[in-house]
Amino acid sequence: MIRNSEADEMRAKILSLIPEYFQRAFDKGTFIPGKTPIPASGKVFDSDDVAGLIEASLDFWLTAGRFAEAFEEKFAERVGTSHCCLVNSGSSANLLALAALTSRTLGGRALVPGDEVITPAVGFPTTVNPIYQLGLTPVYVDVEPRTYNVSLGSLKKAISPKTKAIFMAHTLGNPFDCGGAASFAREHGLWLVEDCCDALGSEFQNRGTGTFGDLAAFSFYPAHHITTGEGGAVVTDSHELAALIQSFRDWGRHCRCAPGQDNRCGMRFSQQFGELPKGYDHKYVYSEIGYNLKMTDMQAAVGLSQLKKLDAFIEKRRENFQYLSERLQDFQDTILLPAATPGSNPSWFGFPLAIKPECGIVREDLLRFLEQRKVGTRLLFGGNLTRQPAYIGRKHRIAEELRNTDFVMNHVFWVGIYPGLTREMLDYTVSCISEFLAEQRRL
Ligand SMILES: Cc1ncc(COP(=O)(O)O)c(C=O)c1O
Repeated sequence: MIRNSEADEMRAKILSLIPEYFQRAFDKGTFIPGKTPIPASGKVFDSDDVAGLIEASLDFWLTAGRFAEAFEEKFAERVGTSHCCLVNSGSSANLLALAALTSRTLGGRALVPGDEVITPAVGFPTTVNPIYQLGLTPVYVDVEPRTYNVSLGSLKKAISPKTKAIFMAHTLGNPFDCGGAASFAREHGLWLVEDCCDALGSEFQNRGTGTFGDLAAFSFYPAHHITTGEGGAVVTDSHELAALIQSFRDWGRHCRCAPGQDNRCGMRFSQQFGELPKGYDHKYVYSEIGYNLKMTDMQAAVGLSQLKKLDAFIEKRRENFQYLSERLQDFQDTILLPAATPGSNPSWFGFPLAIKPECGIVREDLLRFLEQRKVGTRLLFGGNLTRQPAYIGRKHRIAEELRNTDFVMNHVFWVGIYPGLTREMLDYTVSCISEFLAEQRRL
């Protein structure tokens, strides 16, 4: 791209139109109960986010560039780790985190086919998929009621001489016992990988999620705390793991030049690798069996702009969660309310509710009732993943009875608390739940 004063002037003119465009194009209108949808999750964005996207488009760099570099730096700073590597989704972040741990450079600590990885049976598929994809064996554990997270007791039951790693998500933004899991992992020489896709900004004992594991993965899909459309990140404090993550992300190459950069190491044509001839271009030296999972600069520009609003988003999520908790107190004879893990301050992703089995209400009847009134609902993702068609018949180990996991599969669902929801919307959600329960009592 050639920068000159005329081009700069035109760029400024284009960007100056965006606030007005934003106002006209994205006017939300007034909320009409029963008519306006109340999504369980969604993106919240402003004209600065749109301007960031346009600015990156006008650069026409397309692949990871100046916005990606800035976003990586700011995201790591915000999470509290020394390294961040942007990727094209949260699922890619999970895959990359686990794949990096298969590097032969890690010696005896490298994950090899047949090694066991402890993981909860309830959750999102792409937390466990990398375990299968890399030829490892998932060891499924149960979760606790109300927090929907794995306890230290379950980890203790699951460990075997083959166990090499623990890979767990902070369920719906509610941190698992990070302190307990990290010391258990340390004690037994296991890797700990945090799936923080739903937990950006959550804290455990005043420390952010994503800083307890050797590696942590984040998602920036629109449902999440900040968005880049598709997108994600892997963070770590380890220089060694950061280099592996970058290599696995960028085709497995040894060279750490950014897109469009050459000879960052100053030794592009003077090194010797493997059985290659001396001086073989470092840009084409591959030390890992890698992927290409990079984020584009347009996505990164949106992320960079969204990040500025993260604190406000988290506050609103917490406020909405608190408000729904208070408003739903009176329904505890039929509904089981969620609980934050002791010592944690979640940045909630959603508000999980469970229909108490003894009251005889069928969850799907309530979900249908809410959806008909435009109140969005979601299940706790795949429920008991071991019962999903994709996983049946594949090699795994179940370490304990998955009683609460089945309870989640049968009785739990969640409603929205994301920052785009207003008090009126939350009130309407509660009034619909209340109406349904009153109707059921009359039957
Ligand atoms: C816990 C968890 N992990 C991973 C993912 C995957 O993220 P993505 O949709 O960005 O691939 C999700 C998606 O919502 C998730 O909830």
